[in-house]
Amino acid sequence: MLELTNTRLHDEDRQGEAFSPSVDHNYTTGKKFYIESYGCAMNFADSEIVASILQGKGFGATRNFEEADLVLVNTCSIREKAEQTVRSRLHIFRQLKRSKPSLLIGVLGCMAERLKSKFLEEEKLVDLVVGPDAYRTLPVLIEEAEGGQKAVNVLLSREETYADISPIRIDSNGVTAFVSIMRGCNNMCSFCVVPFTRGRERSRDAISIVKECEALYNEGYREVTLLGQNVDSYYWYPNSDNVDNEFISGAANNSPSTGGGRGEAVTFAMLLETVAKISPLLRVRFSTSHPKDITDDVLHIICRYENICNYIHLPVQSGSNRILQLMNRTYTREWYMSKIKRIREIIPDCGISSDIITGFCTETVEDHLDTLDLMKFARYDMSYMFFYSERPGTLAAKRYQDDVPEETKKRRLDEVVKLQNKLSRESNLKDIGKTFKVLIEGDSKRSAGDWRGRSTQNKVIVFPKKGFDFVKGDYAFVKIHDCTGATLIGEAIITTDAPMVEMEISATL
Ligand code: 5AD
Ligand code: SF4
Repeated sequence: MLELTNTRLHDEDRQGEAFSPSVDHNYTTGKKFYIESYGCAMNFADSEIVASILQGKGFGATRNFEEADLVLVNTCSIREKAEQTVRSRLHIFRQLKRSKPSLLIGVLGCMAERLKSKFLEEEKLVDLVVGPDAYRTLPVLIEEAEGGQKAVNVLLSREETYADISPIRIDSNGVTAFVSIMRGCNNMCSFCVVPFTRGRERSRDAISIVKECEALYNEGYREVTLLGQNVDSYYWYPNSDNVDNEFISGAANNSPSTGGGRGEAVTFAMLLETVAKISPLLRVRFSTSHPKDITDDVLHIICRYENICNYIHLPVQSGSNRILQLMNRTYTREWYMSKIKRIREIIPDCGISSDIITGFCTETVEDHLDTLDLMKFARYDMSYMFFYSERPGTLAAKRYQDDVPEETKKRRLDEVVKLQNKLSRESNLKDIGKTFKVLIEGDSKRSAGDWRGRSTQNKVIVFPKKGFDFVKGDYAFVKIHDCTGATLIGEAIITTDAPMVEMEISATL
């Protein structure tokens, strides 16, 4: 498979993951739902909101679709292949419906939004079509569908952030969680369907974000990833009801950018700082940053707080100025390079990753070489790499011809992947002999005798359990002695729960 999507944001291992109930709840309707999710982390976070709404209405959850009364598929439209995967899943669910006519099948998310009621014509046995901003109406839509009507709600909203709904965590590891801080995107990159499927950008109430992160910490979680399509443009105004909130005034007063003041808008840098202050034991990550929006304020805040991870996902998409312009990315190659330099100046050991698209409309060999050249300059630790897939309705589909042959797109992708593998390996080799503070997420995939965790730079680190009494969620200091392309391998040398001790330890190592 050429399309590499093995990331935590778009985690290939999680595609099609079914919801697993992690808490007991009031199961009063006698009906069970099954939900399966595709696409990016935002979609997985949305499925947790949907689960919360349905459980609140007395639905039970199941991981076995054959015993469900309601099957929901939370879909992704970003590339054609993502849509094909969903269609073949629907095929299987339809077969089940033939033997169990009372079964309701619902399509949620980006494909629902993109295709709207067309979905009902194309996929005859689908009963519900619900867009990403309409999940609150699910209980009513389910009732309509139970009454035999086809139920569709694909209205996009300028306000909906589901701020007041506590997501029910899909029980992954109990250590790391995603927290959605904004929805939608205003950027209009010409290749991208997201602004059409997820609507206008809006920021979630900062107080509810901090409360959610605090609750996660109190439940034992040790890492939160603040999620949005473009987190650096997070901007939220407190209203008169919450202007006296301690957090808002505290955050504003601490802000390096604004100088503070009650009731001022909360920026991403301020939000990041406030979440970091919950506890030094709670790691904070964020994604995704747009190169045009990431500010020095954010970089300085990352530097100031040990628990804000030294890792930035900064998608470049292409290294050619001509292609960047056609993509409507609003920055040049030179601007992007200066951002990379700035990150390395302020946070010298920062992990940096990227998204890259090969074979965008009119891309020439020179454009492609520019991309390879920029990758070498940036020395990415990791990249998510795709070949261009034209999406109906996007600016590129309307304006430009998808004229690079598929074979060429894939060959270029292959070259990009090979270069990235080389860069990742080089980056990992440099880590041999160093010691990293690792947050333990669980057993290693290969052996229950080894722990698996991550460094602040987001690298996966595996080390033997033997000789230490760690549990999931602990921090360990691990000295690296080997690596593969994607993993660092080491030995624990010491454990501590107090991050400040790290300074002393690293000074003596
Ligand atoms: N074709 C290929 N890749 C795409 N992406 C977004 N739209 C497309 C498309 N039409 C990639 C971009 C983006 C990531 C989430 O998916 O690299 O950053
Ligand atoms: Fe799509 Fe660009 Fe918005 Fe990312 S920033 S979601 S690529 S339009």
